[in-house]
Amino acid sequence: MSTPVTRERAESRDEVAWPEVVRLAARGVALILAVPHDSLPHVVHWGPDPGPLSDDELRAVVAAAVPPRATNGVDSAVVVSVLPEARTGWTGTPGLSGHRAGAGWSPWLRPERVDVVAGLGGGGRVDVLAADPEAGLQVGVLVEMLPTGVVRMQAHVTNTASGPYAVERLDLALPVPTRADGLWDLAGRWAKERVVQHRPFTVGTHLREGRHGRTGADAATLLVAGTPDLGFAEGEAWGLHVAFSGNHRVAAERVFSGERHLLGGELLLPGEVELQEGETYRSPKLFAVYGAGLDGMAARLHSHLRARPHHPRTPRPVVMNVWEAVYFDHDLQRLLDLAELAADVGVERFVLDDGWFSSRRDDTSGLGDWVVADAVWGQGRFRTLVDAVKGRGMQFGLWLEPEMVNLDSDVARAHPDWILQLPGRMPVDFRHQQVLDLSHPEAFASVRDQILALVREYGIDYVKWDHNRDLIDAGSTRTGRAGVHGQTLAAYRLLDEIRAGAPGLEIESCSSGGARIDLEMIEHTDRVWASDCIDARERQQIQRWTAQLLPPELVGSHVGAGRAHTTGRELDLGFRAATALFGHFGVEWDLTAASPAERSELAAWIRFYKEVRSLVHTGTVVRRDVEHGDLWVHGAVAPDQRDALFAVTLRERHVTWPAGRVPIPGLRRDLTYRVSAAGPGADAPYDERVHPTWWATGIELSGAVLADVGVHVPALDPDHSALLRIEAMPR
Ligand code: GLA
Repeated sequence: MSTPVTRERAESRDEVAWPEVVRLAARGVALILAVPHDSLPHVVHWGPDPGPLSDDELRAVVAAAVPPRATNGVDSAVVVSVLPEARTGWTGTPGLSGHRAGAGWSPWLRPERVDVVAGLGGGGRVDVLAADPEAGLQVGVLVEMLPTGVVRMQAHVTNTASGPYAVERLDLALPVPTRADGLWDLAGRWAKERVVQHRPFTVGTHLREGRHGRTGADAATLLVAGTPDLGFAEGEAWGLHVAFSGNHRVAAERVFSGERHLLGGELLLPGEVELQEGETYRSPKLFAVYGAGLDGMAARLHSHLRARPHHPRTPRPVVMNVWEAVYFDHDLQRLLDLAELAADVGVERFVLDDGWFSSRRDDTSGLGDWVVADAVWGQGRFRTLVDAVKGRGMQFGLWLEPEMVNLDSDVARAHPDWILQLPGRMPVDFRHQQVLDLSHPEAFASVRDQILALVREYGIDYVKWDHNRDLIDAGSTRTGRAGVHGQTLAAYRLLDEIRAGAPGLEIESCSSGGARIDLEMIEHTDRVWASDCIDARERQQIQRWTAQLLPPELVGSHVGAGRAHTTGRELDLGFRAATALFGHFGVEWDLTAASPAERSELAAWIRFYKEVRSLVHTGTVVRRDVEHGDLWVHGAVAPDQRDALFAVTLRERHVTWPAGRVPIPGLRRDLTYRVSAAGPGADAPYDERVHPTWWATGIELSGAVLADVGVHVPALDPDHSALLRIEAMPR
C-alpha cells in the first residue's frame, strides 16, 4: 500500500505540512530523505535498506546524520540537498548555476508543493516544487525509487520573472558513505569502448565531461563509488548514470568536511539555454544504482530495463550485417549470394549497411539524400534484393544516418542553413560529414518523411541508425546559439516519430560503433551496436563492461571474419561465436569467402544460439575473474536458477597450469545440477591432455559445491572459450 501525501506550503513557516523524513525502499535499497519546509530535500542515507522505521526512528536517523562543527566554518550544519545550494555554505559544486544578467545567481529554493508517495518497500517518490521569488525561479526536483531499487531523478527550472535567465548547469547529487573509498568508471575510444579505470576517492572532483555532442566512446557510462573490496560479487557499489546522448557531465566529489557525492547532469555550452519568462529547462534523467558488487549493480539495472513495457521480448533474430562483408561494394549479385548463404546458415534478419543510397559510393558524399541509388542498383533492382531477402524468410534491415549530411549531397547544396555551424564558419569535417540541424522544423520534417517513405515502400523491418561524428561548433542558424541541447532532444523526437509512423520497426543505435549507449537512447531504440571492433578478444572486454549497464539482449554482437578487420588478429570460429552468443547474435563476415566447413560450423552455432537465446536474454549476468583475471567466467542464470549457461574464457596464459578449480556462482545452493559441456565445441573428441575427466560424461553437483568448491575446466588455449550448461536435476 502506498500513501500519497500532497501538501501545499502552509501559511506559517512553522507548520510543516508534509512528512519531514521519508524512507523510499525497494529490493533491499533505501533512500532516506529529509524533506524540510525551508529547503529542498536532502538524502540522509542511500544504500542498504535498514527496514521499516517509525517516524521517530526516521527523525533519529536525520539527527544522527548531523556532523559536529569541527572546522572553522559555517555556524550551522551545512545541509547538502539533492540540488546542492551554495547559499548554505556548501563549497562543493552547486546544482543550479545560472543568472539573470548577473543577478539571481545564488537562489534559496523553498518548497511550495511536495508530493510524497512512500510505499512499504515497493518504491515511491518525492516530488518537490520550490521557488525563489526574488530570483524569479521555480525549481522542480523529482526523486523516484523504482520497484527494482533503481533511483531515478530529474530536475527542472522555470523562469518566473521578466527578462531572460541563463541556465549554465542543473545537476543533481547523491551522497555516498565514507566507506565508498574508491572510484570506478569506464573510458575508451573508437573500437575499444568501455575500458575500466580505478582511482582512490581523494579530496577534489573526479569529473567526466562528455563534449562530443553524443554519448561518447569514452563515456564514464556509470561513475561508481565503491568499498575497497569492490568486485563482481564483493563489496558495495553506488553508481550514477546520466541518461543523455548529448553533452553531459558526471562527477565524484569529496570536500574538506568529508562529504562525498556523485553528481551529474547535462553539460550546457555557453548561452545554450536562456529561458524567457514562463520557459522551462529540464535536466536529463539520472539513474542511481546501489548494488552488492558490480554484478549486483548490473542485475538491478537489467531488471529495471527488462521491466519496461516496451523492452524487446520476442526472440532476438540472428542478424547478418553486410558492412564487413562488402563495405561500399554494393554489387547486387554479391548481395544476393550473401543473402542466400545467410538464410542457409540460419540468419533471420539481413541488414544492408552504408552505401545503398543516392551518390554514396564511399564516405565522402550522399549522406542526407535518403533515396535508393538507381544508378547503382538499376531501376527497381533494390526491390530485387529486398524481395530475395524476404522471400528467404528473413527480415530486411537498412543502415541510415539521419542526423548527418555530406556537403557533397543534394540536401546540403539546397539547404546550407540546415547544417549546424557558426556564422560564416563550417565546423571542421569529421568523416567528411556535417550535422543536420534537427531543431530546424523543415529539416526535421524532410528527413523524417524520407525515412518513413522508404520504410513503408520497402517494408523495412529494422534500421541501423548511425551517428558518425562529434558535434563541434554546432550552432543553429535559426537561433544563432549553440545547438547540441536542441539537437539531442530533436533526435529523440525524430526516433519517436519514426517509430510511431512505422509500428513494429526496430531500431539499433550505432555511433561509430558504441558511442551512443545510454539509458535515454535505449528508450528510443531496441538495441545498441557495442563497438565497430568485432575481434572476439576485444569484444570479450567490451561486452563484459557494456553489461554493466545493458542486458545482453540489447547489445548487438557479431561473428566476424577469421582475421579481424579492426585488429588483424586471427581467432577461431568457436571463440568468435561463443563470444557473440552472449549478446544479440549476428554475423558480419563475407560468407562467400568462408569455406563450406566454416559455414556449417557457423550454422551449428546459430542453431545453438537459437536454443539458448531465451535463457541468455532473460538470465542474470554473472561474471568472475579467476587466476588474477587470466581466466574469465561469464554466465547467464535463468531467473528461477534452474538453468544456466556459462562461458569460461582463457585471456592470458597463467603462471601455473592448468587453472585451478573454477567456481560457478549464482545457482541455488540447495539444488543439484547436471553440468555438461555445451555448444558445438563440445563435440570435439575427448582429450585427456585438455579435458577434465568429467567432461565427456558431465557431472552432478549441488549449487553450493559449484559456488564454493568449483570444477576443473578444459585446459584452453588463449582466446578460447569452453561452454558449460548447468541444469537443475528433477527432485
Ligand atoms: C559506422 C558504423 C559501422 C558502419 C559504418 C558505415 O562506422 O559503426 O558499423 O555502419 O559506419 O559507414
